[in-house]
Amino acid sequence: MSLTRLRVSVVGAAGYGGGELLRLLLDHPGADVRQAVSRRFAGEPVSLVHPNLRSFRPFVFSRPEDVEQCDVLFLSLPNGESMGEMDRWMKTAAVIIDLGADFRLRRPEDWKAWYAADHKRPELLGRFVYGLPEVAREEVRTADYIAGPGCEAAASILGLYPLAKEGIVRSGPVVVDAKMGSSAAGAAPAESTHHPERAGVVRTYKPTGHRHTIEIARALENAGASLPLHLTATAIGMVRGILATIHVFPDCGPVSEKDVWRAYRAAYADEPFVRVVKQTRGLYRFPEPKILQGTNFCEIGFELEDGGRRLVVLSALDNLVKGAAGNAVQCFNLRAGFPETTGLTFPGLHPVGS
Ligand SMILES: NC(=O)c1ccc[n+]([C@@H]2O[C@H](COP(=O)([O-])OP(=O)(O)OC[C@H]3O[C@@H](n4cnc5c(N)ncnc54)[C@H](OP(=O)(O)O)[C@@H]3O)[C@@H](O)[C@H]2O)c1
Repeated sequence: MSLTRLRVSVVGAAGYGGGELLRLLLDHPGADVRQAVSRRFAGEPVSLVHPNLRSFRPFVFSRPEDVEQCDVLFLSLPNGESMGEMDRWMKTAAVIIDLGADFRLRRPEDWKAWYAADHKRPELLGRFVYGLPEVAREEVRTADYIAGPGCEAAASILGLYPLAKEGIVRSGPVVVDAKMGSSAAGAAPAESTHHPERAGVVRTYKPTGHRHTIEIARALENAGASLPLHLTATAIGMVRGILATIHVFPDCGPVSEKDVWRAYRAAYADEPFVRVVKQTRGLYRFPEPKILQGTNFCEIGFELEDGGRRLVVLSALDNLVKGAAGNAVQCFNLRAGFPETTGLTFPGLHPVGS
């Protein structure tokens, strides 16, 4: 495929999200990767930090102060960091795709309530679109400023949005129980991610009050649902992946399998990266994050009980790909007018390591 190549750069390129962006963009026929920015590794080869990128053309990390003009700038910085320098980033590129949380919420009061700080650039919040193509494709196509979703939020929204649209979820309550791999915490070492403390855990680190709660609730409002949503996050002994188990008590009364299939088919029949998985046979009858590692797919499954009064939805994805960098490249494709799946067709591995 021959595409007009756009100049792209990645800030925060030494991190896990940044590394995944580089992996996908270096192999993308429409991307000319110009700079990979890191403060700590400026001047060092990119392959020193991301050894999986050794086979691509050799290049070194750039300093943040040396960032040059490009067409699309990807930001993959810790939460709260991109807003402080947004004026500079906006002068650097006409299109910005931010993987962080800074511009995901529309209301400054939401940021204050959930991130315990005043938003530094509240006037810019309305200029960013929420970059989850399955719920905002047309907005992403024309947006200059795109804020990618949080990874638990992406898994939860993709599981719930069709149910909200069809009125199966209206006023809740809905409970999301998310199990997370360690890479969701980023590359910066911490006591909680130190191997002896992290390996093999089933550690609930946010029983209540997880920040993605508000992101999910706001996205569902756009589908007509206004509900109490409760999110619990548990770290498990996986490096990549999220499994969100979502407990729904349909507001419309008991539902049948047909009703639920209808809701998901209506939303996802033509979606390139969402697969509804509900097999009657085999080991992988329901979504399993392990076999999605490295892919841009989100898999959704469900089962009913109690005559359709309780619906359990399972939503799985790779937090670094469909939950972060792959989804950002999907947005890049839409914004650039490229086929949406460009550079994102890796089907995953089977069997695969832990
Ligand atoms: N990890 C996930 O699963 C995931 C999923 C969805 C969204 N996200 C979001 O994506 C963003 C990045 O996450 P991550 O997991 O990739 O984090 P990370 O591994 O900690 O990487 C962040 C990078 O940002 C750079 N950095 C830190 N402070 C900076 C600053 N003030 N100015 C310039 N660069 C700075 C750091 O490199 P240097 O110190 O070398 O500059 C670091 O490598 C976060 O906002 C996160 O919420 C992450």
